Amino acid sequence: MGMTNTPTAAPVSPAGAADPSRWLRVHHPRASAAARLVCFPHAGGTANAFTALSAALPEDVELLAVQYPGRQDRRGEPCAQDLSELASGVAQALAGYDDRPLFLLGHSMGALVAFETARLLEERGTVARLFVSAARPPAQDWQEPDLSLVGDEELTAGLRRLGGIPEPLLADPEIAAEILRLLRADHRALLRHRCAPDTRVAAPVTVLLASADPKNSLEQMADWARHTAGGHEVAALSGGHFSLLERPGESAPPLTRRIREDLARPAAAAASAAPDAEPLADLVRELMMEGLAGRTPRLSTDLTALEAAAGEVMAPEAFAYVSGTAGSGATGRANRTAFDRRQLLPRMLRGTRRTDTSVTLFGQRLPVPVLLAPLAAQQVAHPEGESATARAAAATGVPMVVSTFASRTLEEVAGAAGDHPRWFQLYLPSDRAVGESLVRRAEASGYGAIVVTVDATHLGFRPAELDSGYSPFLRGTGIANFTGDPAFRAGLPADADATQAVLRWAQISTDPTLTWEDLAWLRGLTRLPLLVKGVLHPDDARLALEHGADGVVVSTHGGRQLDGGVSSLDALPAVRAAAGADVPVLMDSGVRTGSDVVKALALGADAVLYGRPYVYGLGLDGQRGVEHVLRCLLTDLGLALALTGCASLADVGPHLLANGDRR
Ligand code: LAC
Repeated sequence: MGMTNTPTAAPVSPAGAADPSRWLRVHHPRASAAARLVCFPHAGGTANAFTALSAALPEDVELLAVQYPGRQDRRGEPCAQDLSELASGVAQALAGYDDRPLFLLGHSMGALVAFETARLLEERGTVARLFVSAARPPAQDWQEPDLSLVGDEELTAGLRRLGGIPEPLLADPEIAAEILRLLRADHRALLRHRCAPDTRVAAPVTVLLASADPKNSLEQMADWARHTAGGHEVAALSGGHFSLLERPGESAPPLTRRIREDLARPAAAAASAAPDAEPLADLVRELMMEGLAGRTPRLSTDLTALEAAAGEVMAPEAFAYVSGTAGSGATGRANRTAFDRRQLLPRMLRGTRRTDTSVTLFGQRLPVPVLLAPLAAQQVAHPEGESATARAAAATGVPMVVSTFASRTLEEVAGAAGDHPRWFQLYLPSDRAVGESLVRRAEASGYGAIVVTVDATHLGFRPAELDSGYSPFLRGTGIANFTGDPAFRAGLPADADATQAVLRWAQISTDPTLTWEDLAWLRGLTRLPLLVKGVLHPDDARLALEHGADGVVVSTHGGRQLDGGVSSLDALPAVRAAAGADVPVLMDSGVRTGSDVVKALALGADAVLYGRPYVYGLGLDGQRGVEHVLRCLLTDLGLALALTGCASLADVGPHLLANGDRR
């Protein structure tokens, strides 16, 4: 336990701090340190527990050891009644220490004090990371016996078994009595401690688990994930409950490495904005830790299995609308088989630890080459509709393309998306005043591009929809962008009811007479980047660019329009060739997995639009369901890129496809 009566290191007191000298000890002052590691001892422990670890740390990390009241030079003070007393004492003492990043490390009971201290510190700043050693999660029952009921001899024997206290100290009756006194007092505070299961810190958490610790197992560590919004990891140490302190030569290097990585990260993170490529392994780790705790994910991680699952829970007519394709479904199937037919030919040993997945389109930097496709009328899947989707998009860093036929207004969706990038999909209405109004509203609400759809001037022949006699729009879902629009209202009597609004929508919402000249008109209307969605023929890509488009989306509308048409992926290479290397070319239809995204990029897409699976996620579990789907896709994509040996998207090209598939 490192409990000794040797003199402690000098108290420290930086200018302006509220007397930290009682609480903090610096065993080895390091004036030029880049970071500070504040260490919280175990029950019965003192600041001296960390002397050896402090010595083993290099010059760029300074260790501050916490001294709890009631011991050594603080023997005159009573021991704390509860752990929050300790946390608030330390948090106050750290007031003057905000000039360098603060890392906290708690050992055993000290982990709970460190966790509570991190919560207090985060009210006024940030904690770089919380290391927790030999400690179960704060809301878990630690299953500790009441030590006031355990006799001295039995307790001393238990301490011997656990290790950590040099035998000569335990053999000295006076010192042993002091150790037991402190242990019982601290332990009382530990038993009294309560923490709600959803209490979280923002700081990432590293769980240090000694392989032969009889008090803790990997399974018991899983719930630490629930106590941090910053991600968690488990690092293995060899040895028993006290190995962190007893083997400083082994425990200091991984700590130092982690601290240096964290210090290096802010600059890298600033360069790559939003959630960067690391969510990959995080999701796998998180799900495996949950598994250790006996929990499996609510939704399958098999993105091709969500359709069947959604079919079980969504209203049959809503499911028919979302999942339905045109005619015999041939185009829908072709979209999938086009992906399955092509095979990746990966390269090995390229040292790709993680892949930079960012892509810049129209001067906008997107964290991943994936956007949410503009699926209409999402309230058929979930009452919160596109607002839930927008929040999930923001949470996962995937930009969203919002449909003209959204069931929430484009302003509401923008509000839910906050600062997160979004584009607006436009069906150009036959009433051009309404079209202009939609574009102006999109500009005013921070949409970063207009994506005009050209393959649905007539809706396709969709048996599933027709057989259920169900169109969301005719029931008033998916027309929110019209009913509140001043230009749309101008075409209706002042006292028009819902039915009249639906009928007017049906009259003007699309325009079967559209030609390329209308695209030129739209081009003249806005300075936002303009993409044409629904292009399959290379000549149409050329026409789109000639009439002012800035980019094209190769799409079969998810197989919902022309039955028996070419698949998007098959059409992509020729469109890319026609558009040239510099024009953004996106694609959708049939993308399900991370490997599908890689194949689309290899055949010339700059990014893909991802459609039905996220609406199935929405139907299955609202915002959480969408987040699940996107996290699975991004994790899968990151791994697919790493497994093909790509360090960035610039490394993706036709050479990644097996021979014969490069077209
Ligand atoms: C659809 C249109 C409305 O596919 O986008 O249902």
